[in-house]
Amino acid sequence: MRRKVIAGNWKMNMHPGEAIAYIEKFQDLVKDTENEVILCVPFVDLMYCIPMVQETNIHIGAQNMHFEEKGAFTGEVSPAMLQAINCEYVIIGHSERRQYFNETDETVNKKLKAAFEYGIKPIVCVGESLEQREAGKAEEIITTQTRLALDGLSNDQVKATIIAYEPIWAIGTGKTATSEDANDAIKAIRNEIRRIYGDEVAEEVIIQYGGSVKSSNAKELFTTSDIDGGLVGGASLKPDEFSLIVNYDKE
Ligand code: PGA
Repeated sequence: MRRKVIAGNWKMNMHPGEAIAYIEKFQDLVKDTENEVILCVPFVDLMYCIPMVQETNIHIGAQNMHFEEKGAFTGEVSPAMLQAINCEYVIIGHSERRQYFNETDETVNKKLKAAFEYGIKPIVCVGESLEQREAGKAEEIITTQTRLALDGLSNDQVKATIIAYEPIWAIGTGKTATSEDANDAIKAIRNEIRRIYGDEVAEEVIIQYGGSVKSSNAKELFTTSDIDGGLVGGASLKPDEFSLIVNYDKE
């Protein structure tokens, strides 16, 4: 049985004071869960959040990084820097980065390799646009993105990668994929991994759903055969609401 991994993606929200207040409240609300809980926070919050969660079951991640160790890349943060502050996770290739910051399958792949080189666990995002879905190309897009993202990784590295399937049309729109459609898309991703890396890797790899997950739909999504948790944007900004999503399997 794969574990459930539920990650919050705060995006460009929450300054340090807000982050500290959030974690002070949130840690008690999720302390009894067996699901893995991750908060992916802005860079400026990392140094406050990482020490705060040491004695808790909360894990902290960044939302992006560069693939080079250091150098003349003004405004960027390197994997070596994230490693130095014990940042455990990093989101790679979120659709907003692909759309607004020119991330490509190639940079996503380089970042994934860099994450493993520096011991940071990657959450890599794939997903189709509405146009691509309506043209019947969703499966082709997401399996290709998955294959290119993982290219050149070892079987053990693929097993340790978390993949988030996030249909772009469902992000921040209030439109959620039906649990059946999301599960089918995730099965297609898992089968692509099976084709390339074999059964054992495919059965172990964690694949989340993301796109307007909230407390009212989390249970339906997370109890399907292949959805192993979620990457949650808007609904992760309030500790009460996000804790209900983390605790979807409690009464
Ligand atoms: P949303 O965002 O939950 O606000 O739709 C999800 C994401 O972009 O990770």
